[in-house]
Amino acid sequence: MVGQDSGASTFKYNEKPVYTTSNGCPVESPTAWQRVGNMGPLLLQDFHLIDLLAHFDRERIPERVVHAKGAGAYGEFEVTDDISDICAIDMLNGVGKKTPCVTRFSTVGGEKGSADTARDPRGFSIKFYSEEGNWDWVFNNTPIFFLRDPTNFPVFIHTQKRNPQTNLKDATMFWDYLSTHQECVHQVMHLFSDRGTPFGFRHMNGYSGHTMKFTKPDGSFVYVQIHLKTDQGNKTLTNEEAGKLAGDNPDFATQDLFQAIQKGEYPSWTVYLQVLDPEQAQKFKWNIFDLTKVWPQGEVPLRKFGKLTLNKNVENYFAEIEQVAFSPSHLVPGVEPSADPVLQSRLFSYPDTHRHRLGVNYQQIPVNAPLKAFNPFQRDGSMAVNGNYGANPNYPSSYRGLTYQTVKPTNSHEKWSGEAVTALFGPVVDDDYVQAKGLWDVLGRTPGQQDNYVQNVAGHLSGAHQATRERTYEMFTKVTPELGQKIKQATEKEVSAGSNL
Ligand code: NDP
Ligand code: HEM
Repeated sequence: MVGQDSGASTFKYNEKPVYTTSNGCPVESPTAWQRVGNMGPLLLQDFHLIDLLAHFDRERIPERVVHAKGAGAYGEFEVTDDISDICAIDMLNGVGKKTPCVTRFSTVGGEKGSADTARDPRGFSIKFYSEEGNWDWVFNNTPIFFLRDPTNFPVFIHTQKRNPQTNLKDATMFWDYLSTHQECVHQVMHLFSDRGTPFGFRHMNGYSGHTMKFTKPDGSFVYVQIHLKTDQGNKTLTNEEAGKLAGDNPDFATQDLFQAIQKGEYPSWTVYLQVLDPEQAQKFKWNIFDLTKVWPQGEVPLRKFGKLTLNKNVENYFAEIEQVAFSPSHLVPGVEPSADPVLQSRLFSYPDTHRHRLGVNYQQIPVNAPLKAFNPFQRDGSMAVNGNYGANPNYPSSYRGLTYQTVKPTNSHEKWSGEAVTALFGPVVDDDYVQAKGLWDVLGRTPGQQDNYVQNVAGHLSGAHQATRERTYEMFTKVTPELGQKIKQATEKEVSAGSNL
C-alpha cells in the first residue's frame, strides 16, 4: 500500500491523528463549512462539507438478499486426526496443522436489522485462508434443507419474507408453500423444534448439508458430509424466551459472541466427517444428492478430524463481516462439489450476488483476499485496488511466463453422459416423511421437547387461512398421526382464542 493510513490499523486511545478531507488536506475543525457572509448560501467549492455529505449519501451497500443479519469473528482450524487415507486436501493434511479463518453466523429471512433470536435456520459460514487458496464452508445449523429442486429456492424465500401487498410477514404464504412442497417436512421438524431458536451462535452445530467429494490423485474419491458439533453444548431458547429477547435485545447473539471472545472464552467446535465410497453410495437407501435427507449416523458413523476455535473479534464490522463474501464454489485442490442440483446452483449464485453486492473485484477486499492469488488475466473493473497486476501482461504472453501447476487430482472422477432433460426429484413419496418421524422420535428423548414442538407450530400456523391449516395438518399426519392430531388440536385452540387473527 502506498503511504495511506486507511484506518485499518488498531485504534489507539492515546493517538491523535490529523483530521483531513478524503484527499488528505488538513481541516481546521470538524464543523468547518463555507458560506457567503454570515447568513448567506453555501459554497460549492467547500470540498470538506461536500466530501462528507456525498460519502455519507453512499454509505449503504445492498444487504444480502438472504442471511442479511449476522455476526462473525476470526479463528483457526486445527487437524486433530489423520484422514490421509481418504483426503488429499493440503489444509487437512497433517495432524496439528493450523489454518486461519474468518466465520460469519446469520439468520436467513430477516433484514439486516432484524432480531437474532427469530425462528429461522442459522447460517454457519467459514472462510479458510489455506496455502492452496481460500476454501469456504457455507453451511447451516441444520443437516438438511427445505428443498431439493433448485428452482424452488427463490420462490420459497419469497414466502418466508414479506407479503408483496401488506409488507408483513405472512403465515398463510409461509405454510401455503410448505404444505404444497412437503419434501420440506424434515426441515420443518428442525425449524419448529427448540433448535430453531438457538441460544446465540456458540451453542449450535453446523452441517454441510450437501454431499461433497474428497478426491485423491490416484483418481479415487469418496463422498462426504461435514458436521461441526459445538463444544459449548447445544443450548436453545423457548419460543417465549426468543420472542421476549427479540424485543429486549434484538442483537442478543451478536453481543453474546463478541463478549465471549472479548473475555477470552473462545468458542470451539469439534469437526467430523461422514464418509461413503461410491459403491456404498450406489447401494445406499437414501439419494445422497437429496438435500432433504441425512445419512443416519447408525449406518454412517461420524469420524472426527478437526477443531474450529474462534479467538479474535474483528476490528471493523463493515470491512470484515459485511464485506466478507463466501461461496460454495470457493474450493481448493482435493475437494469437489457433488452433483446435488441445489449445490450446483449455489456454485453460480454466490459469486453472482457478490459481483452485484460488492463489485466484480470482491476478491480483492482484504477479508476476502487469498494468501496467494495471481491471475493477471482478470483486470480492471470497478474498485481495482490492489495494484491491478501492474505491468504484467494481461494475456498469456511469450515473454513473461507463468507457472501452471498441475492441479491434483484431476476432474475425471465421475463420468456423466446423457441427454439434456428437464429434471425434478418427482412427487413426494412416503419415504420423504421417514426422517421427519426420526427427528420426532429424537425430540421424544428429551422431556418437554415434543410438547414445545407442537406449541411452536401452533402459535405460528394459527395465523394461516383455514385451507392452508388443513393441508398442513395432513402433512404432519403423514409424519405420524399422533403429531398431526396434536398440532391440529393445539392450532385450532389458538384460532378459537383468536390470538393470531
Ligand atoms: P442418531 O440417533 O444417530 O442421532 C441423532 C442426531 O440428532 C444427533 O446427531 C444429535 O446430535 C441430533 N439431535 C439431538 N437432539 C436434536 C434436536 N432436538 N434437534 C435436532 N437434532 C438433534 O440419529 P440419525 O442419524 O439416525 O437421525 C435421526 C434424526 O436425527 C434424523 O431424522 C435427523 O433429523 C436428526 N439428525 C441427524 C443428523 C445426521 O446427520 N444423521 C444430524 C442431526 C440431526 P447433537 O445432539 O450432537 O446435535
Ligand atoms: C447466503 C443463495 C441454499 C447457506 C446466500 C446468499 C445467496 C444465497 C444469494 C447471499 C450471499 C451474499 O450476499 O453474500 C442460495 C441459493 C440456494 C441457497 C440460490 C439454493 C439454490 C443454501 C443452503 C445453505 C445455504 C442449502 C446451507 C446448507 C447460506 C449461508 C449464507 C447464504 C450460510 C450466508 C453467507 C454469509 O454469511 O455471508 N445464499 N442459497 N444456502 N446461504 Fe444460501
